[in-house]
Amino acid sequence: MSGPFTVRVATHQDRDEIFRLRHEVYAVELRQYPIDPRGRLDEPADSGNVHLLVLAGDELAGFVSLTPPSAPRYFVERYLNEAAARRVRADSPYEIRALTVRAKHRRGPVAALLMYAVLRWVVARGGRSVIAMGRAETQDMYARLGLRRTGVEFTAGAQRYGLMRGDVAAGRVVVAQRYRRLLPRLGALVRWELDVPFDASPEHCAHGGRSFDAIGTSFDRLDRRDRIVTADVLDAWFPPAPGVLAALTADPAWLARTSPPAQADGLITEIAKARGVDRDAIVVGAGSSDLIYRGLPRLIGAGSRVLLMQPTYGEYPHLVGKLGARADVLRLRPETGWRLDLDELERALQRGYDLVVLVNPGNPTGRHVDADALWRVLRTAPASTTIWVDEAYVDYAGPAQTLEPRVALAGNLIVCKTMSKAYALSGLRVGYLVASGPLAADLRRWSPPWPVALPAQLAGIRALQDPGHYQRCWQRTGDLRRTLADGLRSAADVEVVESEANFVLVRLAREGMAAEVRGRCEEHGVFVRDVSPLSPDFRDRYVRVAVKDVTEIRRIVAAVSGS
Ligand SMILES: Cc1ncc(COP(=O)(O)O)c(C=O)c1O
Repeated sequence: MSGPFTVRVATHQDRDEIFRLRHEVYAVELRQYPIDPRGRLDEPADSGNVHLLVLAGDELAGFVSLTPPSAPRYFVERYLNEAAARRVRADSPYEIRALTVRAKHRRGPVAALLMYAVLRWVVARGGRSVIAMGRAETQDMYARLGLRRTGVEFTAGAQRYGLMRGDVAAGRVVVAQRYRRLLPRLGALVRWELDVPFDASPEHCAHGGRSFDAIGTSFDRLDRRDRIVTADVLDAWFPPAPGVLAALTADPAWLARTSPPAQADGLITEIAKARGVDRDAIVVGAGSSDLIYRGLPRLIGAGSRVLLMQPTYGEYPHLVGKLGARADVLRLRPETGWRLDLDELERALQRGYDLVVLVNPGNPTGRHVDADALWRVLRTAPASTTIWVDEAYVDYAGPAQTLEPRVALAGNLIVCKTMSKAYALSGLRVGYLVASGPLAADLRRWSPPWPVALPAQLAGIRALQDPGHYQRCWQRTGDLRRTLADGLRSAADVEVVESEANFVLVRLAREGMAAEVRGRCEEHGVFVRDVSPLSPDFRDRYVRVAVKDVTEIRRIVAAVSGS
């Protein structure tokens, strides 16, 4: 995105210009502070604050300051009595401060851009509410964005202020409705350099995979792949079975130029044999993403009611939203170690959803629910509710933990499987799902021919023919996960959430640290995932780290701990 305006986060070098603009507006114009002969109005060191800027060309056109809930105190507290300050702190808002626009830009889009940047920034960090001190002139603008007057008023310098408060969720709705037409025009005017996309309903769901920034998506710096640690995506740390590698390298020219079996019959037969399920129950795809995107539109549409866990794998809320369905969330919570509460799930199931989606073990939590216990609850759902269980990581939890065999007992259960993670085939794209005969047949009817590439069909078959290799790798993954968790706990001030998958969720020392730790790791060539956008309960405090081999684990531990 490019245009006459740039939106970005201020760096240390921007401070001087920010202080000059503050002086111009708050001392010279508003007389809230005495004139300073240096023409600067410095801000007391408040390291936790973030300044978002709009530049017109090279000139600072405006800025807004944000105080995150992790800061020792909000600016507005100095004007409030203790009870009012306590009320303000209660739901950990982000504080919007000093929305400042240079006089000559007041008629342009700068203020709108700043406020939109605030909203996108706070949403991306899981913030639930904002507060702001509004002057008479700014209160109306805040009100148009969905903030409400709280009735608390005070005087600062020559100005009278009112304290305003807004829910982020309500703000998103207001912006989506009222600014529907304005936003694309603003988008065309701006070079957007924040780490959260400009568009609130992006075409694609965000993922890890930033390591490809280092390698290049045209693969022109491929030699770097061995120097970086890709712990932000959840690919296997181990290689595919030897038989897979032998098959892929025997005749690559034939593999490249030959059309595969159109319905992947051999792959389906091998999956049925290896997993003990009926051939007719299997639908294959180019990774489970392909099946998610082919399957969900067959199950839900505008107005459908869906139950999702929060946090969950990001594609589910993204796709459910795009399909116009209404999603309720069952919130997993830090207080209970992000465990799924089966009683709560059982109660929720009685509401009669069209679709319930569960990822077990959970991503990004890594928490696993025992298959028998989960099944006892899931079977209480009404027959009209389709239950979609995504088992991308289940093989790491043990051989008896998959619900695949239960599909034969329940017409409304779909088990979605990928061979990306546990079979080390992410690059090749092989996945399958297991569903009752009619559901599977319906999905096959809407599937393209050659759904899985020839090298991928061949690799999938050879992988399933070597269970011993994978059993050993899955077991070793458990050992390495413990090494990673112990290493992180002893080197850094963190907590590690119990996991049965090939990754761990890490709780950092303080709220608001996730982006900083991710950035610091990247400087060491170590990529970890900041999971803040997946749940407001993460409070900018969690990163997810994939299990890697011993050498890479050492690098991850050093990077996270900053040693
Ligand atoms: C829970 C879950 N489901 C599905 C997928 C998609 O995997 P693929 O498309 O490689 O099969 C992922 C990938 O990270 C995942 O975490």
